[in-house]
Amino acid sequence: PRLRLSPAWELLSTNRSVLFFGHRGFLGFRSLYLDEYRDRLFIGGKDVLYSLLLDRANTDAKEIYWPPLPGQTEECFQKGKDPGTDCANYIRVLHPYNRTHLLACGTGAFHPICAFIYVGHRGEHTFSLDPASVDPGRGRCPHEPSGAFASTLIGGELYTGLTADFLGRDPGIFRSMGTRSALRTEVDQHLLNDPKFVAAHMIPDNDDRDNDKAYFFFTEKVVEADSKEHTIVSRVVRVCVNDAGGQRVLVNKWSTFNKARLVCSVPGPGGIDTYFDELEDIFLLRTKDGKSPEIYALFSTTSHVFQGSAVCVYRMADIREVFNGPFAHRESPHHHWGAYEGRVPYPRPGVVSSSLELWYSTTKDFPDEVLHFARAHPLMYKPVYARHRRPLLVMTDLPHRLRQLVVDRVEAEDGQHDVLFLGTDAGSVLKVVVLQKTSSSTTEEIVLEELQVFKVPVPITQMEISVKRQMLYVGSSLGVAQVQLHQCETYGTACAECCLARDPYCTWDGSACTRYQPSSKRRYRRQDTRHSNPAHQCLDQNLTGERLGVDDFESTEKKVLYGAENNSTFLECVPRSPQASVQWFVQRPPDEQRDEVKTDDRILQTEQGLLFRKLHRHDAGIYYCKTLEHGFTQTVAKTALEVIASEQLAHTFPRERWDEPSRLPCPEPRLVPQAPKAWFKDIMHLISSHNLQRVEEYCTRLWCGSRPYHRKSKLAQDKHALAGVDVGKKGRTAKPHSERSRVPRQAVAT
Ligand SMILES: *[C@@H]1O[C@H](CO)[C@@H](O)[C@H](O)[C@H]1NC(C)=O
Ligand SMILES: *[C@@H]1O[C@H](CO)[C@@H](O)[C@H](O)[C@H]1NC(C)=O
Ligand SMILES: *[C@@H]1O[C@H](CO)[C@@H](O)[C@H](O)[C@H]1NC(C)=O
Ligand SMILES: *[C@@H]1O[C@H](CO)[C@@H](O)[C@H](O)[C@H]1NC(C)=O
Ligand SMILES: *[C@@H]1O[C@H](CO)[C@@H](O)[C@H](O)[C@H]1NC(C)=O
Repeated sequence: PRLRLSPAWELLSTNRSVLFFGHRGFLGFRSLYLDEYRDRLFIGGKDVLYSLLLDRANTDAKEIYWPPLPGQTEECFQKGKDPGTDCANYIRVLHPYNRTHLLACGTGAFHPICAFIYVGHRGEHTFSLDPASVDPGRGRCPHEPSGAFASTLIGGELYTGLTADFLGRDPGIFRSMGTRSALRTEVDQHLLNDPKFVAAHMIPDNDDRDNDKAYFFFTEKVVEADSKEHTIVSRVVRVCVNDAGGQRVLVNKWSTFNKARLVCSVPGPGGIDTYFDELEDIFLLRTKDGKSPEIYALFSTTSHVFQGSAVCVYRMADIREVFNGPFAHRESPHHHWGAYEGRVPYPRPGVVSSSLELWYSTTKDFPDEVLHFARAHPLMYKPVYARHRRPLLVMTDLPHRLRQLVVDRVEAEDGQHDVLFLGTDAGSVLKVVVLQKTSSSTTEEIVLEELQVFKVPVPITQMEISVKRQMLYVGSSLGVAQVQLHQCETYGTACAECCLARDPYCTWDGSACTRYQPSSKRRYRRQDTRHSNPAHQCLDQNLTGERLGVDDFESTEKKVLYGAENNSTFLECVPRSPQASVQWFVQRPPDEQRDEVKTDDRILQTEQGLLFRKLHRHDAGIYYCKTLEHGFTQTVAKTALEVIASEQLAHTFPRERWDEPSRLPCPEPRLVPQAPKAWFKDIMHLISSHNLQRVEEYCTRLWCGSRPYHRKSKLAQDKHALAGVDVGKKGRTAKPHSERSRVPRQAVAT
């Protein structure tokens, strides 16, 4: 796929990106809360909180400086932590608390602290920290500046999954704040074994708030009975929001803690599946039915043999079924797990509901037998399988690891599509659409765009989508960038190009590729993400003859390229779509016939174009680069290649450097010294203007002083000179589109 620098960098003015990075140079981005109601973006960084008005972020930003408590930096330093990177207040918790306040918690130099931030009502842009509200934050915020952590705020209570001590040895799921007593998990490897928390969400069971459940998603280690080695598995944990702990057993501990394995695997031959066990991220696609969001999970392999990522989708119905199913049981750590087949005490552990009899209205009233059973059986026997028992998307040939996932369900011309935004560990975001093939149960994924959001290859640590604004907010340790969900106009100016892009956000509106609006007039809209056959969709769009590839050889703009005999040269041709296949044709004088270019050891077809390792005289001709996609062909590049014979070259530059003044072909050499760089630029410009007459005049002037010098046979020699200048001066560097294929260049022979 094509890689382009995200337009985010253009959208954010210099001032705005400076602001994003903070005045103290380095933002150390940790947390983000997108407030669609206030149209504000709250950002937690290193010792600083920002509030940006989304429409006027350039001019209207506020910040709060919030360092660790006095003395904590020194203590942190004395305990052997790095004062530059560890001993600061990294704001890792940022949640809306009530109508006027946010809750923020920071690591406080390994001494976590929380505070309320006053953000005012809608329309006000106030932003201040109430110093009186600063509170110890142990169990509410991790000690470490980075690493696994999950939190959610439900009804004024904070639910967190984290390690709650300086040494990172006390992992747990905690509930704090609010009026009820705090709860946590017991310290027990059967409950949590070296967990890495990924996400926490409240998902209701039904309209009765008493039945609300909190779900945590994480990975942990498991040790199988017959082996000493551990493996990593992904888990979902469920606790009841109205859990109050036990009275004599499990005092101030969860009494409704249940966990199940999340399976994401690809069925393989002979029943041997490929498992993706390392959970990276979770995205909840909320549906109208609030109790059944679709759970999108991004995994990677833990295998050393192959690297890959997969996205699996889980349904709440399947998750609930597993938690309502059998508990896992084993006689001893040396036995294998089986389904518990004995009598499960009443009320069933993991359920607290107003529908229970009155004397069980709180977990404190549960019989000890129930709590003992709950404590002994935290694990469910059955795993949760993904929808269709297979991943929605598998990507195995990526150079980067995928870290973050956001999903947008897009209403397109041909129905609904799920567009996945995948953040990599190299500062980029992939935009992928997964198409369900109508004929079979298989899917096809199309990488629509690859956006390099950060110039430096840093891991993307958070992504938030604003469907309202059609924006994606992407965070890394370097800062936060804003990226448009779609940029239909970049796909080109023809109906066929718009169709071939297959971007469900875009459609052809009769004159341009634009954002699809379900309400706009249907007559002109053209898009079919599933099939994208422009021949069908664009027939009446006045593109029939030219654009649909019957013969656009003549109409394509021609470029001229000079190459030196025996030297290498490169004809560039990058198809507009990554899915297109490329074919090269050549028309050699005096022939009118266009033949397909035969590739061999000397002429190679690469992804970027056609490489001649050693140019022969008979290679001269007009080269056409045609792309083919879904039956649509298009001439993307047309290049007249002229080969300059080695004798001619030798004549022009007899083993001298190109800038040797005395040997240039002028009647009376009177050279005006020029900086090589400037020359080069000008020559490029002139060649791209295709005005050879002007090239000749320019060169004559350049080499022979200011007097124009004309001679009939002169042009050829000037061309040599041009080729000579370029050869050896240019590497194959990436260039903006407008400069492509316009200058002779030296290709690195492979
Ligand atoms: C950045 O802000 C300064 C003043 O704060 C202003 O003078 C300058 O023009 C701004 N630059 C850009 C690129 O907006
Ligand atoms: C929100 O919570 C803060 C902190 O507890 C409190 O001071 C404030 O009055 C609350 N605001 C509302 C509108 O309830
Ligand atoms: C279609 O093309 C013809 C000739 O090429 C032109 O006269 C006509 O205006 C075009 N129609 C539209 C709708 O663009
Ligand atoms: C170029 O190659 C041809 C054939 O290989 C050879 O005859 C000729 O001498 C070469 N010219 C130069 C300048 O190397
Ligand atoms: C061929 O390319 C090399 C650089 O690889 C350059 O040094 C040499 O001058 C070129 N030869 C001709 C004849 O242009």
